Amino acid sequence: MKLLEKITLGTEILQNAIAMAPMTRSRANSEGVVSDLTALYYAQRAGAGLLITEAINISEQALGSPLTPGLYSQDQIDAWKKVTKSVHDKGGVIYAQLWHTGRVGHSADKKGNLPVAPSAIGIKGQQHFTSQGMKDYETPQELTTTEIRQIVKDYGKAARNAIEAGFDGIELHAAFGYLPNQFLSESANLRTDEYGGSIENRNRFVLEVMQELVDVTGRDKVGIKLSPTVYYNNIENSDPVAQFNPLIEALNELPLAYIHLMNGLFPLDNYPHYPKNALETFGSISKHMVIANGGFNKDSGEGELGKGIAKIISYGSLFLANPDLPERFKLNAELNVPDGATMYGGGEKGYTDYPFLKD
Ligand SMILES: Cc1cc2nc3c(=O)[nH]c(=O)nc-3n(C[C@H](O)[C@H](O)[C@H](O)COP(=O)(O)O)c2cc1C
Repeated sequence: MKLLEKITLGTEILQNAIAMAPMTRSRANSEGVVSDLTALYYAQRAGAGLLITEAINISEQALGSPLTPGLYSQDQIDAWKKVTKSVHDKGGVIYAQLWHTGRVGHSADKKGNLPVAPSAIGIKGQQHFTSQGMKDYETPQELTTTEIRQIVKDYGKAARNAIEAGFDGIELHAAFGYLPNQFLSESANLRTDEYGGSIENRNRFVLEVMQELVDVTGRDKVGIKLSPTVYYNNIENSDPVAQFNPLIEALNELPLAYIHLMNGLFPLDNYPHYPKNALETFGSISKHMVIANGGFNKDSGEGELGKGIAKIISYGSLFLANPDLPERFKLNAELNVPDGATMYGGGEKGYTDYPFLKD
């Protein structure tokens, strides 16, 4: 079974072709510092070929949701050191997912500051989870060109901190409607400077950040997560193929470890012009290793690897609920069912207490 075979990713040999997809668990403290429980949570899942952490804020400005961790203070870095050590002690490989939420946040959790975004367009038809309950989205502050350049540098600083914390690599979160995805979208980016107004200009921010991350970490240590057909968080494009093909071709020119493609998990009835299978449409033009994500189980994951486009499958909620997922796949064992109520926030319940097969 390909899922259980060793595979080389950049400079690492992974013990299998199964990745844990990044998952926000909102269990850091109010300073964005993760606890020893987080070290245990990741160590429990170190049987994955590759662990990708929950999204980690690159700066105070980047924060969108309460109790999400950061990588911009020394306390945060020191806490992540314990996580990477606990994973490495078990022979695992762990990448840090870097996050700037852009307009997907609220002043209630940003010390009164409005969220920032490519353009002053708020998200409509959805609400945001805040420490004061669900709230309507605000109109974000449009970023100046100088501020955009500062954010690119903030990504570089966070990448440097991630390396100091012992991570094996970095993944840029450019999916699901967060800041990089906002730049890529015609509905969120109405800029008329070099960061908007044309396909090339909308791609510029992501490519500048990726170049910065490569400059900091060196070759084969940077990946990117993209979701070209996900319209959640009011992300729309009149022609996703026209927007994302040139981006993927430009990424082909950088010495990356992988691209992580998320298939659309939402119905496309109102988007008949969107490609039905993001993995086939976009994965087939990538020269990098492709990690496929989105709704896979063991059989469909194995089937996807058989198509020859993706080399690794990432599992989100199944890995959340099954710390020994690769072992369960190997033995065709039953799977624990993820509990939606304990996904975000709280303590060990629904975090570190999912049973192992041998419990
Ligand atoms: C609790 C939870 C938190 C998530 N947080 C993140 C995140 O921080 N970063 C990210 O890129 N995706 C996040 N996702 C999306 C997953 O990485 C993945 O794309 C999605 O769950 C689909 O994969 P699955 O069907 O295997 O669960 C999250 C998903 C879940 C269930």
